[in-house]
Amino acid sequence: MSQNEMILVLDFGGQYNQLIARRVRECQVYCEVHPHTLGLEKIKAMAPKGIILTGGPNSVYKEDAAVCPSELFALGIPVLGICYGAQLMTHLLGGKVTPAPVSEYGNTKISVTAASPLFEGTASDFVGWMSHTDYIAELPPGFKVTAKTQACPVAAMENAAQKLYALQFHPEVAHTEGGALMLKNFVRQVCGAAGDWRMDSFVETTVAELRERVGSGKVLCALSGGVDSSVAAALLSKAIGRQLYSVFVDHGLLRQDEGDQVAAVFGDGGVFDLNFIRVNAAERFYAKLQGITEPEKKRKIIGEEFIRVFEEEAKKIGRVDFLVQGTIYPDVIESGLGKSAVIKSHHNVGGLPDHVDFKEIVEPLRLLFKDEVRQVGRTLGIPETLVNRQPFPGPGLGIRIIGEVTAEKVKIVQAADAIYREEMAKAGADKKLGQYFAALTNMRSVGVMGDGRTYDYAVALRAVETSDFMTAESAPLPWELLQTVTRRIVNEVKGVNRVLYDCTGKPPGTIEFE
Ligand code: XMP
Repeated sequence: MSQNEMILVLDFGGQYNQLIARRVRECQVYCEVHPHTLGLEKIKAMAPKGIILTGGPNSVYKEDAAVCPSELFALGIPVLGICYGAQLMTHLLGGKVTPAPVSEYGNTKISVTAASPLFEGTASDFVGWMSHTDYIAELPPGFKVTAKTQACPVAAMENAAQKLYALQFHPEVAHTEGGALMLKNFVRQVCGAAGDWRMDSFVETTVAELRERVGSGKVLCALSGGVDSSVAAALLSKAIGRQLYSVFVDHGLLRQDEGDQVAAVFGDGGVFDLNFIRVNAAERFYAKLQGITEPEKKRKIIGEEFIRVFEEEAKKIGRVDFLVQGTIYPDVIESGLGKSAVIKSHHNVGGLPDHVDFKEIVEPLRLLFKDEVRQVGRTLGIPETLVNRQPFPGPGLGIRIIGEVTAEKVKIVQAADAIYREEMAKAGADKKLGQYFAALTNMRSVGVMGDGRTYDYAVALRAVETSDFMTAESAPLPWELLQTVTRRIVNEVKGVNRVLYDCTGKPPGTIEFE
């Protein structure tokens, strides 16, 4: 990655921190997030163009508060403190932070009180997202107030001569009007970053780094066909070609034609140069799942079997030097601040084996966000169908078939799901939704088709609006669309005589059925 124009984000544990880095990259400026414990020497060695101190849950005046070296403010590098970061800047530079008489949370009217490079081009009164119980009670020497709210006398402050800026509100969240512009003003105007960083630069530099790191070694990758592992494999393929061995375990629980699509892109005759090993293990998985109805048990069996198959294939390849993981930045955050990423067991089918013999893990996407990973994928020539794929759980259709999984039920749910997806795409509804799919209930009911009685399965359709997959709303799909999908599924999919729409949100439901 091009590091000559880097913005360093020091992480104090705030919940919006990943958004800050993302906003900086949206300004075409390279950015890295590091724990606040990163020492002064390392910071100096990185020579960032600017430093952003994030929000965080602590109070700066408490003994165990998270801090950064105060010398940081004297390096001549512009610093922007956000929320906790603003309070920390105040505290370390001789101002005063105390519990606020009135806490502010959520959308709050903010008034600019003095011209500031950060507010260049923004409205003088705007809505900003606040989330604080402490506030800046006294400015540090040399600072002036640049914005306030009714309850908070210092919503923004700065010491322009020292290039130190602080915002009590969160410019990184979408609720803050003009927030992205404020960050852009900081990064491009105050820090003077040129904004010449592109995803192509990421690809070029990462490929060069990977080549150097891997040398003539062998690299193993578990390819699921999901966005992250596909992009990781494509990057490695560009870097080291046939030194890469990608194992694609087709557990027979993929969506219709998905296995073939992955093989068409990564297999012989596809776009990439690598050793692509497809294991058609459907029968093996179905056999293990026979008679099993309990959801957790199904998940466990699928996860374990996946590992066994992967191990067997890895053994055939022999000793490998590196194992590729498609870990992306949100996974790093989920795995805990400052800790190295754990193998993302919850994202893959039950994690990766302990028994594969390798020296090191390679995680080329570790600093990127999902949409950035997609951008890299496009740059590398991965087709849109794969790049835009919705999240698909590791255990696949195994958890979209309620009750026992059989080959016959897999075919039913695959066919219903394919129709659903086709009609959603035709109606243009697919782009607006977080996730949608068909599931097969364990319910059979009586119907009538032609002149005959039927006793068949009910398919459940699910479509949710969500941004983070932690909470979700059931999507209000157009009735005509639901009718079309229902008609087609009942007419075209043998074994189904009823279609239901799931109106449950999350909570109380989950997105998947099991
Ligand atoms: P739930 O059902 O928990 O799903 O509301 C939230 C999101 O996670 C996905 N999901 C999984 N992804 N392995 C995965 O890789 C899994 O075992 C798994 N279970 C759920 C689900 O599709 C949704 O996007």
